[in-house]
Amino acid sequence: MGVNKADLRHMILHFTSGKAWAEGTVPMYVRGEGVHLWDDEGTKIFDGLAGLFVVQLGHGRSDLATAAAKQMELLAYTPTWAAVHPTSLECAKLISDLAPDDMNSVFFVSSGSEAVESVIKFARQYHHTRGNPTKTGIISRNVSYHGTTMGALSLTGLESIRTPFYPLLPNTHKVPNTLEPGGGADAFEEAVLRLGPENIGLIAAEPVQNSGGALVPPDGYWQELRRICDKYDILLLADEVITGFGRLGAWFGSTMVGAEPDFITFAKGATSGYAPIGGVVIRDALVNELLVEHDGSFTHGATWGGHPVVMATSIANITAMQSERVVENVAANEGYFKAKLKELSETYDVVTDVRGMGYFYAIELGRSRERAEQLTADETALYVKDRLPKYIKDAKLLIRADDRGNAKLMLSPPLICEPHDLDQLMAGVDQVVGRFSEDLAS
Ligand SMILES: Cc1ncc(COP(=O)(O)O)c(C=O)c1O
Repeated sequence: MGVNKADLRHMILHFTSGKAWAEGTVPMYVRGEGVHLWDDEGTKIFDGLAGLFVVQLGHGRSDLATAAAKQMELLAYTPTWAAVHPTSLECAKLISDLAPDDMNSVFFVSSGSEAVESVIKFARQYHHTRGNPTKTGIISRNVSYHGTTMGALSLTGLESIRTPFYPLLPNTHKVPNTLEPGGGADAFEEAVLRLGPENIGLIAAEPVQNSGGALVPPDGYWQELRRICDKYDILLLADEVITGFGRLGAWFGSTMVGAEPDFITFAKGATSGYAPIGGVVIRDALVNELLVEHDGSFTHGATWGGHPVVMATSIANITAMQSERVVENVAANEGYFKAKLKELSETYDVVTDVRGMGYFYAIELGRSRERAEQLTADETALYVKDRLPKYIKDAKLLIRADDRGNAKLMLSPPLICEPHDLDQLMAGVDQVVGRFSEDLAS
C-alpha cells in the first residue's frame, strides 16, 4: 500500500494518546464488507461499533458508491448559499418526511459538531429577532458529548475535554444527567429559575445519552422538558447525532422517548458514513418566524453544507434503509439483543449494569454487581486504557472501552445485524468480559 504506521509522524490522530501515536499501536483498518472490517495484518474483525456509531447499513455497499460517483460526474459541487440543486432538495424532503410531523425544514452542514453549532446560532438569532437578546444561555447535562467546536464544546459536559479550552461560551450551564443524584427533569427547571428565564434560550440533551453509558431517560422526562421549555420560552434540542437514523429502532430516537423538540441534530447515520454529513431539522413555527414573519435569513452557512455528492449518498443510504427495512430490523431483533445481554450479565457478576435501547447498549463493568462494588479510578484507567483494548483486539472486535463514568463497553453494531451476527458479536463480548472477570478474581 506504500504506507505504514511509521508514517503516523505526519498525521495527528483525534483524541489519541501521544504514546499510542508515537508507538504506532493504533489499528489500521483497510477494508470493510457488511458487518466486518479487515486490518492491515489481514485480520477479520466484527464491527460492533458501526465504525463510531455511524455505519447503519454496513460496509462495502457498491450502490452508495455508485450514487456518489454518478453525482460527481454530473455535478460535483454547487453551493447552498442562495442557490439549490436537486439532490439537496430531495434529501431535505426525504429527511423531513421521516422527522416528526411539524418539523419540515433541514439545514445541512458536514458534522455533528457543526449541527450543534448551527442550533446554538439559530436559537440566539431567533430570540434576538423576537426582542429577547438576553436569552443566550444554554443548559445541558453533565458528562454529555455534543461535539468539540467551541460552541458545541460549551454544551459538552465532559470536564476532561473542556478544561484545556476555557473560557468557553459564557452563560452555558450543566445539570445532573439521569444517572446522577438529582438528575430528574426538574433539575432543568431549577436551573432556569436560578439563572433567570430571561437569560436562558436553549436546553439540549440526547434522547439516550451516550457518554456515561447509554442513559435511557425515565418515563415522562422529555415531556417534562417540553413543558419547561414552553413555560419559559426556551427552545429544545434533541441531539440525535447518534440516536438518529434508526439506532434506537425508529428513524429518530425522539419518537422512542416521547420527545417533542424544536431542533433535531443528526449526522453519522444519515449517510451510514459513506460521506461526511451533519444537519438540523427545525420545527416549522421557528422557521416561519425567522424566515417568513420577520423576512429575515438564518445568518449562518458553510461551503460544504448540502454538498451534492454527500446529498446523493444520503439519499441512496436512506432509500436503501427503507427498501431493506433496516430500521424495522432493529425493532424486530432488539429483544433478541437484549436477551443476549441479559444472559451475559447473569453469567458475570462483574457486569454491574446493562443500559440502552435498540442497537445501542452500554455494559458497565465493576468489581461485583452482587456487592454493588465498582472499580477504583486507578483500576478503571488501567482496564479501559490498557487491558480491555487488548482483550477486545484479541476477540477480533471493534467495540469501545469507555471510562466516562464507570468502566464500560459500548456496543453499537450496524443496523443490518441479524440474530446470527448478534451471536457473533456477543461471543466476542463474552470472551472480553470473561478475561476481565478472571483478572479481578486473580
Ligand atoms: C450526541 C453527539 N453530538 C455531537 C457529536 C459531534 O459530532 P461530530 O463528531 O460529527 O462533530 C457527537 C459525536 O459523537 C455526538 O455523539
